[in-house]
Amino acid sequence: MNKTYYITTPIYYINDVPHIGHAYTTIAADIMSRYKRLCGYDVFFLTGTDEHGQKVEKAAEQHGVSPKELADRMVHRFTDLWQALNISNTGFIRTTEERHKKVVRHMFEKAYENGDIYLGEYEDWYCVPCESYFTDLQLKDGLCPDCLRKPEKLKEESFFFRMSKYTDRLMRLLEEKKDFVMPEIRYNEVASFVKGGLRDLSVSRTSFSWGIPVPVQKKHIIYVWFDALTNYITGVGFLEDQDKFNRYWPCDAHLIGKDILRFHAVYWPSFLMSLGVEPPKHVFAHGWWTIEGQKMSKSLGNVVDPYEIVKAYGVDEFRFFLFREVPFGSDGDFSRHAIIHRINGDLANDFGNLTSRSVTMIGKFLQGKIERPEKKGGTDEYVEESVRKLVDDYQREMEVFAYHKALHNVFEIISILNKYIDSEAPWKLSKEGDVRIKTVLYNIWNSLRIVSMLLYPFMPQKSEVIRKALGMGTSFQEVLFDNEKQFYHPDDISRIDKIAPIFPRIEG
Ligand code: MSP
Repeated sequence: MNKTYYITTPIYYINDVPHIGHAYTTIAADIMSRYKRLCGYDVFFLTGTDEHGQKVEKAAEQHGVSPKELADRMVHRFTDLWQALNISNTGFIRTTEERHKKVVRHMFEKAYENGDIYLGEYEDWYCVPCESYFTDLQLKDGLCPDCLRKPEKLKEESFFFRMSKYTDRLMRLLEEKKDFVMPEIRYNEVASFVKGGLRDLSVSRTSFSWGIPVPVQKKHIIYVWFDALTNYITGVGFLEDQDKFNRYWPCDAHLIGKDILRFHAVYWPSFLMSLGVEPPKHVFAHGWWTIEGQKMSKSLGNVVDPYEIVKAYGVDEFRFFLFREVPFGSDGDFSRHAIIHRINGDLANDFGNLTSRSVTMIGKFLQGKIERPEKKGGTDEYVEESVRKLVDDYQREMEVFAYHKALHNVFEIISILNKYIDSEAPWKLSKEGDVRIKTVLYNIWNSLRIVSMLLYPFMPQKSEVIRKALGMGTSFQEVLFDNEKQFYHPDDISRIDKIAPIFPRIEG
């Protein structure tokens, strides 16, 4: 396998309880990973946890344990959730691992040696919970623009990264690669930020000790973002396994939420340039979920626990909902009403019924075997042509993370098939002994086999169940998109006769 694809999620703060926001980015990365594997790529999919910083240090103090012990206890919350959500990551990185600390120190030292990092003094508004400094201009009515808490004026000796040196190179990168940051609205945001000129960035702290000490002056701790961003190169073997690193770097896509865009699209490429490593190919920033119209927050008590949703509605249903409901990139609102509506409408009525009816008809009218079609008529060709075109559209949309549009194409196919069944009425053809029934069911079978593949990245479990019910002996992990998207006459399939209800209706 020569084609490689490397995708990442942010590494999540270890002291957070995983919620819908964490699940969202990770499922999004899983969808692309599964899709790319179907397309024959050797995919490396990295996620992990961000374990240093003042918040972890404080939480550990409160619990009376060391920060590392706290992290060891908490990390399972994430790894367990990824299992429950069927996440197919191939790597997992914790910033407290030795392999990572080594790379961070190396990157810092290199930047220091080539004059990109210097010692200075820093003074500004500091928000402790967000671990960030803000300028007067950035504050919102005197409060932290992110969490709206009161920041404190803080002055400390600090190492600085010479961002100013990289402004021109970043501008060039943005001009040459209009899709470096996606979607376009985020690209524009980054471009105008860089155009405004970049202040040097403080990359060390002396106010806490839980982190990686600056190699040249140990009382300084390397700033959490300098540490955290570096995970993306550590995770694919930088300094440890150069072959692996060369195989996967530059990263194809960093998936992130819109709140951490600047770190990924401005600071991270600059750190890499300083290290002499190519920047990533794309940074994709998605929107934020509100909950029943409100901002999600611990104080409002409305934090959505992914386990609870999975238990109530099913894992595939949850995964599907997140990307069917809202364009990937935009903000969205999560509500129980909305998820039930999607399950009952799209999944139970439109797709589930179609699949059950079709499988039953193949069982009953064709004795469970797809038969070679006799002759095709106008509507048959229309179905085949439409599927072909919509599959191409789906692929084009998937390539640019337009999951919402890709799913729209899938549901176009489903709608065409529902109309086709109703107008061709196989039950009538069977009664009349009309051979056209073979053609009609052949078309439906092929279309459903393809639809289940298109849905596989979104709903891996249910899609496998459907594939099996359609008589296929292989799983999606063994097939290639380009072969499977063709209409063909199967000669090696098991008897098709029934399928248990796939998406039961939910009474809400
Ligand atoms: N540790 C940093 C990332 C370092 S990456 C080198 C971090 N961690 S986080 O745990 O706070 O957040 C991780 C992700 O969750 C971010 O991409 C953020 O956008 C996302 N979300 C947090 N709340 C969210 C919503 N309500 N909706 C959607 N995504 C949200 O930041």
